Amino acid sequence: MAIEAWYMDCSDEDQRKPHRLNPNQPVSLDELKKLGVFCWKLNADIYEADPALEKIRKDHGYSYMDIITIQRDSLPNYEQKLKMFYEEHLHLDDEIRYILDGQAYFNVRDKEDRWIRIAMKKGDLITLPAGIYHRFTLDETDYTKAMRLFVGEPVWKAYNRPADDFDIRQKYLASLQGS
Ligand code: LAC
Ligand code: NI
Repeated sequence: MAIEAWYMDCSDEDQRKPHRLNPNQPVSLDELKKLGVFCWKLNADIYEADPALEKIRKDHGYSYMDIITIQRDSLPNYEQKLKMFYEEHLHLDDEIRYILDGQAYFNVRDKEDRWIRIAMKKGDLITLPAGIYHRFTLDETDYTKAMRLFVGEPVWKAYNRPADDFDIRQKYLASLQGS
């Protein structure tokens, strides 16, 4: 199954629910690409020795990687972290995540500032460009295990919206002009 994405409704209900519009308004991988968001499908069962993953890491310079399990009893300060992950924010670097197990949602803003929800499942790798506003949540299964990749020494610092004065934000916005 290809990665699925859709426009979100505006309800305040549990963030872990799908929040689809009715009728559903799907978003294609091409539309995501135009926002600078790229997705790959890999075989997560062989992540420890996967030539396809190695190639992506080599091509993009993702020298750093670690693995994070997001689950109540595995992640220290679980409640606080999940709350933080769902605050709209940006980073000065790309955010790269590879779902090794379980599932989760990434939300990104489109050009009109509407929320797109991307349903990430085992085997899905996503890259969010530096400067894009986004957020993250578990779904109702309350569990995912993800590889975090980074170019060089990782910087996890998040800047909550508004963070429009950063050069990287302006650069990101400029990159949308042509797409
Ligand atoms: C992060 C995700 C949650 O910044 O957006 O780690
Ligand atoms: Ni982030």
